[in-house]
Amino acid sequence: MSNLLIPDPIISFQGVHKAFGRQKVLDDVSLDIERGKTTVIIGPSGTGKSVFIKLLVGLLKPDRGSILVDGEDITRLKEKRLYEVRKKFGMLFQDGALFDSMDVGENVAFPLRRHTRKSEKEIREIVALKLAQVGLPGVEHKFPSELSGGMRKRVGIARAIALEPEIVLFDEPNSGLDPVMSDAIDKLILRMQHELGLTFVVISHDIPGTFQIADRIAMLYKSKLIAYGAAQDLRDADDPILRQFFDRSAVGPIQVV
Ligand SMILES: Nc1ncnc2c1ncn2[C@@H]1O[C@H](COP(=O)(O)OP(=O)(O)OP(=O)(O)O)[C@@H](O)[C@H]1O
Ligand SMILES: [Mg+2]
Repeated sequence: MSNLLIPDPIISFQGVHKAFGRQKVLDDVSLDIERGKTTVIIGPSGTGKSVFIKLLVGLLKPDRGSILVDGEDITRLKEKRLYEVRKKFGMLFQDGALFDSMDVGENVAFPLRRHTRKSEKEIREIVALKLAQVGLPGVEHKFPSELSGGMRKRVGIARAIALEPEIVLFDEPNSGLDPVMSDAIDKLILRMQHELGLTFVVISHDIPGTFQIADRIAMLYKSKLIAYGAAQDLRDADDPILRQFFDRSAVGPIQVV
């Protein structure tokens, strides 16, 4: 179930191993991620999903294996080149991670000021455009504390796409949101994917949301990639681990500790 053939993948994990001390977190994980699509990574808590994303942006190094981004092995890069490669990525952190002391406009402008030499006028235009793209036009002067959780997520997404990255990583975009807001974020992700055509890698615990946004689903379980395929194929699979996860049952091979 993990033999998806993806020509010219934008990201390729090849035999990746990662352990912390004696704890094996990823064991020989290989997977290719398709350009311009949404791949959702699922799996029980503690199976290495966040570690996967940290490896992908070079915040962690694997013990073995290669991680190619546009064909370039980022595990072997010097810090300077890695810094350049990181500009290909936009990231939505789990809690939105906005700077509370800055207004929304300054939050979205932050990566532009840090990584580009654009003029004040250009920055203001880009910020306005990105906020409009996430459905929040004109909120530049509000502060994060004045926003709802869903609005904060949207501002986080606007900031993640400010530098026009090729790849956007979302670590649990729905966490902490009520079901209605959660659905609104999924619809936004879906619409942005269609409009912008970027590569999205999403970590999610939310099963209905996963099926709403995913082109591909990868499941990590006990340090292994146990399933990877088109969302439809996984939905219909009779693998007991997948079934238990999708049916959100406490009974089955996945042990709830
Ligand atoms: N820097 C680190 N040092 C030591 N152990 C770590 C480190 N980062 C992660 N781990 C361990 O690796 C395992 C996987 O962590 P990870 O955060 O990737 O899980 P996850 O799948 O994202 O879980 P969740 O769904 O709860 O967010 C955990 O047991 C965690 O304690
Ligand atoms: Mg995590």
